[in-house]
Amino acid sequence: MAFTKYTAKDYGRLKGLAGITDEQIEVHLKLYNGYVNRTNALQEKLFAMAGAGTFDSSYQELKRRAGWEWNGMRLHEYYFDNLAVGAKPLADGNPFGAAVAKQFGSVDAWKNDFMNTAKMPGVGWIIAYLDPVSGQILNSWINQHEVSHLAGAKPVLVLDVWEHAFSVYLKPTDRAKYLDDFFANVDWNVVAQRMG
Ligand SMILES: [Fe+2]
Repeated sequence: MAFTKYTAKDYGRLKGLAGITDEQIEVHLKLYNGYVNRTNALQEKLFAMAGAGTFDSSYQELKRRAGWEWNGMRLHEYYFDNLAVGAKPLADGNPFGAAVAKQFGSVDAWKNDFMNTAKMPGVGWIIAYLDPVSGQILNSWINQHEVSHLAGAKPVLVLDVWEHAFSVYLKPTDRAKYLDDFFANVDWNVVAQRMG
């Protein structure tokens, strides 16, 4: 029985984003590192308990928390991975743009749905998923880190709407400005690769 520890990814390349300050990214990366460390600690404990045959109530509580921490780690990686300094607007011919234009009528119509999902009250994540079964894109609200994920669907664009994602450089009521900043920094090449 073995658990392989996760290593926090290096996002040093994210200095100099449009709008989103370096200090904001620095604080956010510290938070991300916390998820990696807690995921490792929690899983090591769970594997040790399973190895010892300790399936008691503390094992059950850790097991219930495991998805929250793991998703907190992995969703941040999707988010940071789909940001880039010097990002270009969505180009004609991008497979993601082509797919949403066909499905929603236009890229703007898809974005309008994504943005209005992102403006919903609460904290969590907005994910544009590719459903490999139907081939369609679904914009989904994820409550906190773990509620409402679409099983088996591929996250192709991931947006963090926890207030910690913008509260270093904006007021909590300025989510709309943060959403514009997010879109200015999306690396659509990464999104296109995830469609593959
Ligand atoms: Fe976050």
